[in-house]
Amino acid sequence: MPYPSVKVSKRDLNLAKKLLNVYAGEVSEDTSAHTYIFQSLIVEDKEISKILKNIGIVEMHHLDLLGLLIKNLGLIPFFASVEKEKIKWFSGKYINYERDLKELLLNNIALEKKAISNYENILKETSDIYIIHLIKRIILDERLHIEIFEKIYKQL
Ligand SMILES: [Fe+2]
Repeated sequence: MPYPSVKVSKRDLNLAKKLLNVYAGEVSEDTSAHTYIFQSLIVEDKEISKILKNIGIVEMHHLDLLGLLIKNLGLIPFFASVEKEKIKWFSGKYINYERDLKELLLNNIALEKKAISNYENILKETSDIYIIHLIKRIILDERLHIEIFEKIYKQL
């Protein structure tokens, strides 16, 4: 299923600030991408490592889409989030460096669930049809990621 093109109906700095949190905040595309790439490097099973890497690449694509969306809404897509009007730079500390395969899969499922709930909150805050389509498309990927992590977990 293709991704909708990144368009906005009008500039909206408030929404752009909220999107920064799912772009490069603690629970964000940036955190997910880094987490899965880390895991692909340390997991010994070659097949599972490859799956994790590919999911990491999908998260990187989400990062790219959100970055463009934030830019179109009127903000510079810094790798940072905004908390109480203060800039919080993205940090390697956001990544969960768990190395036990079963544990890290459970952490990934929890991370994806949080991501989906954050996106659902954003959907409530905008009526921009272009943004709604894009976010809904991203949610489909996150749901698929949960399915994949659960499938691997059950096979262990
Ligand atoms: Fe994502």
